[in-house]
Amino acid sequence: MPNSGFLTTAVEIVTRAGEIQLNRRETGFRISEKAENDLVTEVDLECERMCRAVLAERFPEHDILAEELDDGVASGAPSRWRWVFDPLDGTTNYAHGLPVFCSSLGLEIDGRTEIGAIYDPTRRELFTAERGKGAHLNGAALAVSSASSLRNSLLVTGFPYDVQRHGNDLVTLFGSFLCRAQAVRRLGSAALDLCYVAAGRFEGFWEQHLKPWDVCAGALIVEEAGGRITGTDGSPFKIAAPHLVASNGLIHDAMLTVIGECRAVGTDGSTDT
Ligand code: IPD
Ligand code: CA
Ligand code: CA
Repeated sequence: MPNSGFLTTAVEIVTRAGEIQLNRRETGFRISEKAENDLVTEVDLECERMCRAVLAERFPEHDILAEELDDGVASGAPSRWRWVFDPLDGTTNYAHGLPVFCSSLGLEIDGRTEIGAIYDPTRRELFTAERGKGAHLNGAALAVSSASSLRNSLLVTGFPYDVQRHGNDLVTLFGSFLCRAQAVRRLGSAALDLCYVAAGRFEGFWEQHLKPWDVCAGALIVEEAGGRITGTDGSPFKIAAPHLVASNGLIHDAMLTVIGECRAVGTDGSTDT
């Protein structure tokens, strides 16, 4: 199948997830805690079940890595195709009725992301990318912004649920960016943060302790919009590495320098592996 056929399936799944998310806001839903501060709702699970059912029916030989229902049991040899799904990115926002959330689906073929689709149902914004064919928002081509200095940049970041465990490191780094950029935001959905870099709404995004489903689709969307994405130490981006910087490319080195300075004074001891 050409990759465009996979993109059609990815778009169908994320838009169906978005409809579930909107409908369930009307009906109400149960919320529980996976760990302290780390919420999961019935809607996360419903969206993931839907995705798994569609993929199992259409592509039974493909692997799936998704946030909520992995049993951790590998069955047989790994497939060439792996779908990476976040059924609801921005669960804390969703649970509080804050309309900043989405679902995110990427497809890796032979270990490289080839397809990405992210849907924000409250704004009806569908972000897509196919490797080598650009990134799009509701069908219109996307491009990163042209701001070339941190001083003129609007940045965004996020924090892990166990932020307390990391002492002051993450907050100190946040403060460093706050003092150098035009402004810094924290929206609560890493997938949308990446889409907004691709759309030129933000110049840059950094976050540590992310998971593959947070970034698989969004990273391709940034790259295909002309942006750059690396580890926080400047190493090549890998979806399995938890720390990343994504930008319009022009401010990337300046962002890495700020992170490097924090490392040098021992405020950020994390590594990119
Ligand atoms: C979270 C969001 C948030 C980020 C967290 C993620 P979830 O994902 O993307 O913006 O800061 O690190 O875990 O739990 O809402 O899918
Ligand atoms: Ca997520
Ligand atoms: Ca999630």
